[in-house]
Amino acid sequence: MQKAEPHLFIVFGGTGDLMRRKLLPALYSLVTQELVDQSFRVLAVARDEFDEGAYRSWAQEALDEFAKADGEAMHKWCNSCLNYFAIGKGEADDFAGLRKKIEEVESAHELPGNRAFYLALPPRVFPATIEGLGREGLNEAPGWARIVVEKPFGRNIESARELNKLVHQYYDETQVYRIDHYLGKETVQNLLVFRFSNPIFESLWNRDRIDSVQITVAETVGVGTRAGYYDQAGALRDMVQNHLTQLLTLTAMEAPAAFEADAIRNEKVKVLKSITPIKDSDVVFGQYRAGHILGESVLGYTDEENVPEESETETFVALRLEINNWRWQGVPFYLRTGKRMKERRSQIVVTFRPPPVSLFMGTNQRPISPNALILTIQPDEGFDLRIEVKKPGQGIALKTESLDFRYSDDFVDLPDGYETLLHDVLTADQTLFVRGDEVEEAWELYTPLLAGGHTIHTYEAGTWGPGVSDRLLAELGDWWVSL
Ligand code: BG6
Repeated sequence: MQKAEPHLFIVFGGTGDLMRRKLLPALYSLVTQELVDQSFRVLAVARDEFDEGAYRSWAQEALDEFAKADGEAMHKWCNSCLNYFAIGKGEADDFAGLRKKIEEVESAHELPGNRAFYLALPPRVFPATIEGLGREGLNEAPGWARIVVEKPFGRNIESARELNKLVHQYYDETQVYRIDHYLGKETVQNLLVFRFSNPIFESLWNRDRIDSVQITVAETVGVGTRAGYYDQAGALRDMVQNHLTQLLTLTAMEAPAAFEADAIRNEKVKVLKSITPIKDSDVVFGQYRAGHILGESVLGYTDEENVPEESETETFVALRLEINNWRWQGVPFYLRTGKRMKERRSQIVVTFRPPPVSLFMGTNQRPISPNALILTIQPDEGFDLRIEVKKPGQGIALKTESLDFRYSDDFVDLPDGYETLLHDVLTADQTLFVRGDEVEEAWELYTPLLAGGHTIHTYEAGTWGPGVSDRLLAELGDWWVSL
C-alpha cells in the first residue's frame, strides 16, 4: 500500500469525541502499519486550555480505551508525536498563533510543509474555521494543503451551496475531502467490487430482472448525549442525505470509465440527477417512544437528556423513490433508517422478478419467494443469495435457502472506515469522498421534504419503526423483506 508523504496532520476538535474514538486510533494504526513516515506528527487544536503534557495524557487514555494495540508503544508515540494548540475564541490572532505553532512543529521535525487539516467540529463552526484558515493563508502550504470536512455538509440546499462557495473561495476541489464515513466501510467499498467484477450479477442488475431495492440502516442506539446536534438535524439530515444516499448511488450507478475518483463520482452524480422529485406522500417520518431493546427498557425520544418535550424531530424515515433512467425506470427503491430499532443492521436487499410462469404455484401451499440478494453492511458483513430449492421427499414442495458469504469466515479484522479514509486523504485519493456537486445534488433531492408540517408517527423502541411505513411498499405490491 502507498505510504503517505511526510506531513503534519492538524485536527480541529482535537479534544472531541471523534478524535478520541476514531481519529486517534486510526492515526495510530497507520503508524503501526508504517503507512506514514517516521516524521509524521499530529497537531490537535481545540479551545480547551490544555498544556501539551495534559493533552498527551488525555490522548493516551483515549487510545487505551479505543485502540487495539500495545499500551507502552502507544504511550511513547503520544509523548513524541502529539502536539497541542489552544485556539481560544478562534479570532484572527489565534489563527496567526496557529500558523506559528505549525511552523515550529514543522521545523522541529524537519517536515516539508505538507499539511492536512481535519475539521472534526460542529457544523456551525465550519465557516468561521475555513475563513480563519484562509485569511491566514493556511489554505496554501509550502508543500500540499488538504482540508477534510466532516458531515453534515450544510443543512439544506442553500446552506450547502453557501458552504461550497466559501470552501471554493480558498481551496480548489482537489484539496477538499468531504467525509462520509460509510464510504470507508469495507462492505460499502465492496459494493463496487461485487458489482463490477462479477458480471453474473451485473448482467441482471437492471429493470428487466430486478423488482425492487430496499436499503435499511437500522440502529439500536438512541440519541444518547447528542441531542444538541441531533434534535436540530433529525434522521433525514443525519442519515438519509448522506449515508443512505451513498449506498443508493453505489447500488444504482453505471460502471465508471475507470476506477478513478472523478469517473466514479460522475456516475454517482448522474444517479442523483435521474431521481424523480420525492413527494410528501412517498415519505413516512417517525419518532421512537419508550420500549424495550434486547430485554432492556429504554426511554422515549422526548424523555431523553436535553431533548425538548415537544420535539417533533424525526428519528425514523422511510421513503420510496424512482430513478428515471434506462437501467432503473419503474423499479422502486425503498430507503429506511431509524434509531432505537429492533436490531443494528445495515442491508441492501435486491429483489429479483419472479418467474414469468409459476410452475410450482399451488403445489406448495405458498407462492414462490422471489430470488433476493442481501448485501449486509453491518454486522456479520457479507451477502446472501436467496434461492428456492426442492424439499426432499415425494411431491414438489419448495423451500427458500441461502448461498452465503461472511467476511468473518475468511478475514480476521476489518479495518475501521476512518483508517481507510485518513490514508486516502494522505495519499490524495478522493474516490471515497463526496464531491461538491454531489453533496448539492443530494440536498436538492431532500430539501423539499425538510419544510416540516408532516405527520410524525411514533413507534415503540425495539421495533422496525411505525407500521404505516409498510404502506409505501404495499401500494406497489411489495413488503419489507424480513432481515
Ligand atoms: C453518524 C450519525 O454519521 O452515523 C449517527 O451522525 C449514527 O447518528 C452513525 O449513529 C452511524 O454510524 P455507524 O458506523 O455506527 O453505522
